[in-house]
Amino acid sequence: MEIKVFENAEEIAVAAANLYKELLTEKPDAVLGLATGATPVPTYQKLIKMYENGEISFKDVTTFNLDEYCDLDKNDKNSYYTFMHENLFNSVDIKEENVNFLDGNAADYDAESKRYAEAIKAAGGVDLQLLGIGTNGHIAFNEPADEFTDEAFRVTLTQSTINSNQKYFGDVPMPRYAMTMGIGSIMRSKKILLIATGASKADAIKKLASGEVTPQIPCSILNNHADTIVMVDKAAAELL
Ligand code: GLP
Repeated sequence: MEIKVFENAEEIAVAAANLYKELLTEKPDAVLGLATGATPVPTYQKLIKMYENGEISFKDVTTFNLDEYCDLDKNDKNSYYTFMHENLFNSVDIKEENVNFLDGNAADYDAESKRYAEAIKAAGGVDLQLLGIGTNGHIAFNEPADEFTDEAFRVTLTQSTINSNQKYFGDVPMPRYAMTMGIGSIMRSKKILLIATGASKADAIKKLASGEVTPQIPCSILNNHADTIVMVDKAAAELL
């Protein structure tokens, strides 16, 4: 695992977008694991610019998003499905049939987990998985736990995550549950890029950098991944 410190979020977005450009130039039909939250938005904006400039295309790309809220309509303004369409998919040439999400409203969560795992496998596995990080060290919605998870599952969100994410929902109470890719599915990605910006992530980044691997700090598992890059700004690196 390599940690790179950048001056600010803008510099991270440039470096991250360049990684995508490299991958898509080499492999136009790459499989991308995508993340939501405020952190990846500047990177998505750079990717849209690159697409508009004719530097990259998503026409043969397949995507798998990390997670989705339960008990929220797919087309709700706060769903991750809507978020990804508004922040990336609607502005590039990706084919809707190549866009994959976990169904937060699946009748059978285990069957949904199997379906997602099989779809990722059938696509050839994730080439580049993008991750943000929760203030409590969560990745996707893998909250601190007694053991590392494997495939996707339905998770009860922690109070810490609710406190961090309620702001995106305004006055509407946010969902208490989500479907998330498990730690095992994330770790099977060929390459992982974690980005973190702002002082609120400094503690989680410090724990990640300590090298101790424990399910109480879900991101710490990345220390065991063979090809992971962590890009942080100065504020997120302030405790290193
Ligand atoms: C949510 C997502 C995570 C994301 C985290 C951080 O919990 N499930 O994938 O990393 O938010 O979000 P932000 O980038 O807004 O801080």
